[in-house]
Amino acid sequence: MKCLLNWRVTLLGLLLSGSVAYAADSRPPASPAAAPAAHVIDRRPGHAGIASANFHATQAGLDVLAKGGNAFDAAIAVAATLSVVEPESSGIGGGFMAVLHRAGDGREVFIDARETAVAAVNLRDYLNPDGSPNRDNALNGPLSAGIPGQPAGLAWLAAHYGKLPLKESLAPAIRIARDGFEPDRRLIGAITDREKDIRRWPASVAKYLPNGQPPLAGQLWRDPDQARTLELLGEHGFDGFYRGETASRLVAAVRAAGGNWTAKDLESYQVKERTPITLDYRGYRVVTAPPASSGGVAVAEILNILSGYDLAKLDEAHRTHLIIEAMRRAFRDHNDYLGDPDFVQMPLDMLLSPYYAAGLRQTILADKATPSSMLPVSAGAEPGMHTTHFSVIDADGNIASVTLTVNYTMGSTFVAAGTGVLLNDEMDDFALVPNKPNVYGLLGSAANAPAPGKRMLSSMTPSIVFGKDRVGVIGSPGGSTIITQVLEGILAFIDGKDAAGIAGQKRFHHQYMPDRVDVEPGAFDAATADALTRMGHTLKERNPWGYMNVVTWDLKTNKLDAASDPRRESGLGKVQ
Ligand code: DON
Repeated sequence: MKCLLNWRVTLLGLLLSGSVAYAADSRPPASPAAAPAAHVIDRRPGHAGIASANFHATQAGLDVLAKGGNAFDAAIAVAATLSVVEPESSGIGGGFMAVLHRAGDGREVFIDARETAVAAVNLRDYLNPDGSPNRDNALNGPLSAGIPGQPAGLAWLAAHYGKLPLKESLAPAIRIARDGFEPDRRLIGAITDREKDIRRWPASVAKYLPNGQPPLAGQLWRDPDQARTLELLGEHGFDGFYRGETASRLVAAVRAAGGNWTAKDLESYQVKERTPITLDYRGYRVVTAPPASSGGVAVAEILNILSGYDLAKLDEAHRTHLIIEAMRRAFRDHNDYLGDPDFVQMPLDMLLSPYYAAGLRQTILADKATPSSMLPVSAGAEPGMHTTHFSVIDADGNIASVTLTVNYTMGSTFVAAGTGVLLNDEMDDFALVPNKPNVYGLLGSAANAPAPGKRMLSSMTPSIVFGKDRVGVIGSPGGSTIITQVLEGILAFIDGKDAAGIAGQKRFHHQYMPDRVDVEPGAFDAATADALTRMGHTLKERNPWGYMNVVTWDLKTNKLDAASDPRRESGLGKVQ
């Protein structure tokens, strides 16, 4: 155990003895270079696959493909439709992150349409007079909302990657918002859960509590204000949301309710294209999310650690033990180092280095858990399941892996009057109060402190995995558990599971603090659970888990396979 106390020293020694020296305080460039990765696949599926969390959204994507759109146009249609039919999880008042693969030239790019803090962001707004965290302002109402990134991201996708005009890709969502749809039980449940907060804002009551109560199952529900807002976005692109009528209404509504947005905050929002994190793991190329997400860094760190073990040769308990220990170490680094790359310098070269992983491996005992308290720093909460992920592959082999969020269920619960826009509560993803947990139990430091125009750190981990014979498009909601669920999805893909097998497999999660393994009921048999407990792991059953929507492409047969998560609703993955 003593050596664990000195793991940093051990690590530094190991690093310095390698051909490249990485010190814990090395400062590589803040932001990955904008030069995209390129990876051409010389095959085309000839048919398309989409998996999302909602029937209308999957269908909207397929309709846009049928009109001559590509995967990126379909992604716009799916995202905009989710904004209407699944507003509890994502929407045009929120943001998204996506990994794209363009078939023609193999371009691989990360689209960061994450929300940003306003220029007037004031830390005092998130503290009570006694200095304790003001959780209400962090999670509810206009102070909890960052400037939305999703509308700009959709306009960006259409302008730079799509084949169709934005308004054509938005058409299905506009039609559904205008003509109405039958809300599903999950939306009704989310509105019911958040009713108390919704009641605080008149425009939210008007939208989500028609006749003074949540919408009823089986009744048509319309969203004409959002239809109009989407129409303006379709007609004028970025300016249709961030300037003019919509922008004025957003600013007026937010300010009237005590928020501090300005027209300039909206006008100056920028989509960022970033180079995805790319790594090789056992002959597979994993393309995943860079900061301002912590997800790809953590997944890469975990896979780099695991690449030193022959997992297939181990029994389930020992294999799971090593995965948990790798998760624990990656989440520790997450808390310390990561934030918006345009604001903070991060030791990414170190965190992504195989030498660093080799050093961490030295600190892992083969059959004994490392108490998190023996690793340098950081607490926990039970996230609910909001946010949403969808996956698309089109007939030409273009790929979109997209995770979208308004943060907590129904975001801030605040609808800006006259726009139909439900604002996010993404400000809680900042470390608003250093080393106090956010709603997902995540801790943070200066790297993720709020600042004007800064993006709050995300766990969203949209990913694409390329093997010699197969491609997998994988992602999930789930707050901090996004990262470990995507990791487990990648491992399941590499183990040869099909799309339904990847989405449906049982999950477990460790995030350094709290020091426990969250386990989906049924994930481990009694013998494995017992062995893990004897190794010193504390297992805690937990539900719910994120719903993962996966598309795979078999490069030998050219067959696509699309599956939605059975935890939510099977059958929402479609191939046509
Ligand atoms: O960006 C993030 O990491 C969070 N806002 C995601 C929230 C989430 O996944 C909630 N779902 N369970």
